[in-house]
Amino acid sequence: NLPQKVRIVEVGPRDGLQNEKQLVPADTKVELIRRLAAAGLPAIEATAFVSPRWVPQMADHAEVLARVLGGAAPAGPDYPVLTPNLQGFEAALAAGAREVAVFGAASESFSRKNINCSIAESLERFRPVTEAARAAGVRVRGYVSCVAGCPYEGPVTPGKVAEVAETLLGMGCYEISLGDTIGTGNPASISRMLETVARRVPVERLAGHYHDTYGMAAANVYASLQMGVAVFDASVGGLGGCPYAAGASGNVATEELVWLFAGMGIETGVDLDVLVDVAAWISAQLGRAPASRVARAVLAK
Ligand code: HMG
Ligand code: MG
Repeated sequence: NLPQKVRIVEVGPRDGLQNEKQLVPADTKVELIRRLAAAGLPAIEATAFVSPRWVPQMADHAEVLARVLGGAAPAGPDYPVLTPNLQGFEAALAAGAREVAVFGAASESFSRKNINCSIAESLERFRPVTEAARAAGVRVRGYVSCVAGCPYEGPVTPGKVAEVAETLLGMGCYEISLGDTIGTGNPASISRMLETVARRVPVERLAGHYHDTYGMAAANVYASLQMGVAVFDASVGGLGGCPYAAGASGNVATEELVWLFAGMGIETGVDLDVLVDVAAWISAQLGRAPASRVARAVLAK
């Protein structure tokens, strides 16, 4: 009894673009988000209110978010944005954000490299963000990175993932997205991790955020589906990588998930052909061919 409906959270405009060396114009980002909305994605992570010195590609966060929200349909998608601290949250709120995401990790070394503080310090920084968000009526999503392995420390124990996830839930995050940041998970290790986490966070509150570095992301999504997870993050065209995880590649391609779920009779609300055109368009903007096999196969028809 697999879920009959799955929610796909498109993270291409943020996770997909954040690692691009060449600055992508704000016009292109806004157009990408508009096209993704037209493909039927229910949630599109639009940008990150992080330091422009750390991630120059996201320096236009306020402009991108304000323009996206300015042209947004009333019943359109959610547009969450990353906010690592109160400073980021306040800037996001000023740009009109209705949903934000805090992002922690289950590995100390990754936490330091990514957000320049320990796991415990990061959680202390997230608390005032969740409090300010609650006061402003803004929803907060929580991420845990390195759920299957860390680029600096290697294996990460499921117990640590569960601990961080439970703390984020306790702060008021409505959902916890579990990041296999470097794509080293496989269906067995991801299932074991989910089993442990689900003892402390209800499975309905969990999302899978799997990078496809080793080509296992779709298999990990299927394993998670069998465990009852019904929300998955994905990046159009398979764009992406993390600036603080060398060699990491993009998230599972959104069109691969839409293809997988459509074939299994699971509803996503996303139009595959429109989405593949978006994958082709953004890939062309970046001067390359779409990386995903589903995009290439659909385009070859
Ligand atoms: P810090 O240097 O420790 O911060 O950075 P600080 O509080 O000491 O402040 C130092 C300077 O940064 C100050 O500026 C602040 O104003 C500024 P100065 O006075 O020196 O000119 N600053 C900020 N500027 C803009 N926005 C802010 C902000 N906060 C402080 N929010 C910080 C801490 C977290 C800001 C920094 O480490 C950072 O921006 N890191 C980038 C993190 C990032 O974007 N990583 C990639 C996304 S996470 C990811 O990809 C994983 C995920 O996909 C899940 C998965 O796959 O696992 C989510
Ligand atoms: Mg990621």
